[in-house]
Amino acid sequence: MIQSGLFPVTRLRRMRTDEFSRRLKREFSLTVDDLIYPVFVLEDNNAVEPITSMPGIERQGLTALLKTAEKCMAYDIPAIALFPVITSQLKTIDAAEAYNPEGLVPRTVREIKARFPQLGIITDVALDPYTSHGQDGLINEKGYVLNDETVTVLCKQALTHAEAGADIVAPSDMMDGRVKLIRDELDRSNYILTKILSYSAKYASSFYGPFRDAVGSKRNLGNADKKTYQMDPANSNEALHEAGQDILEGADMIMVKPGLPYLDIISKLKSEFNMPIFAYQVSGEFAQLKAASQNGWISEKECVLETLLSFKRAGSDAILSYYALTAAKWLREAK
Ligand code: PBG
Repeated sequence: MIQSGLFPVTRLRRMRTDEFSRRLKREFSLTVDDLIYPVFVLEDNNAVEPITSMPGIERQGLTALLKTAEKCMAYDIPAIALFPVITSQLKTIDAAEAYNPEGLVPRTVREIKARFPQLGIITDVALDPYTSHGQDGLINEKGYVLNDETVTVLCKQALTHAEAGADIVAPSDMMDGRVKLIRDELDRSNYILTKILSYSAKYASSFYGPFRDAVGSKRNLGNADKKTYQMDPANSNEALHEAGQDILEGADMIMVKPGLPYLDIISKLKSEFNMPIFAYQVSGEFAQLKAASQNGWISEKECVLETLLSFKRAGSDAILSYYALTAAKWLREAK
């Protein structure tokens, strides 16, 4: 590689002198096209509930959710991701509610699609909102999450979502082989254009705490963890191995989650695979930024936009963020 000469021939500050030259040199940018807004959905149409550990984010029943969807459309956000809050009576050992065609997710997808057909809808494929024990899959008597039995249920769940009109199904469960079997299931029913966003590099992270408060799976999970299926935060090779498998199995997009502590993984996946890579700025990352901002310790807008830009620089094509709607407003104001 040819490098420029040394100081004083080279002065890197020369290009930083003026706004125009800074603009010309700029390599990455964040736009609304990069944003996906995750939303928590309540059974009761008229309900709205705040989430203590995620100030400013609410669980929303259909009425409020349709207004949120309208705002996303108004700000030109390409897609939303639905996360259901299932009432405890519907949580069972076999997670049967996960593939109820009249369940909360399919109903919500149909309602949103009927009004805002252009808004992309991503649904989460995993059993944790539906299991009485809060794990993402079915368990045996020892509490071990069973892989193949779980995948059978995930396929039914994904098909139910596709039938309701979901554009993208997003398995976040980390079972082996689920992308292939979900693709087969969708294709068998001729949902050949339903896309799969695979949570490939999903780590057994402690940054999911506020999300588990939001969907109410924390209590059900108790002291159990998800380390027998989510990845060890100490590993990097494994993310490439896992993503490679998911790509071969038919994933259209792959996700890294959490986001900021795993920028190195985003970067590696982007250079290894010619695939769309998405990042999830998870609930704990949102909570950190929000808490520091509310204390007046950091400047919220600048820090959030800087963080979202760092995902782009690392190689993310899109970002799921609880800040998506706010960021879209900020980006529009800046124009
Ligand atoms: C579970 C799921 C989780 C999140 C999205 N889907 C939590 C978990 O794995 O326990 C976390 C998202 C966030 O923290 O914002 N299938």
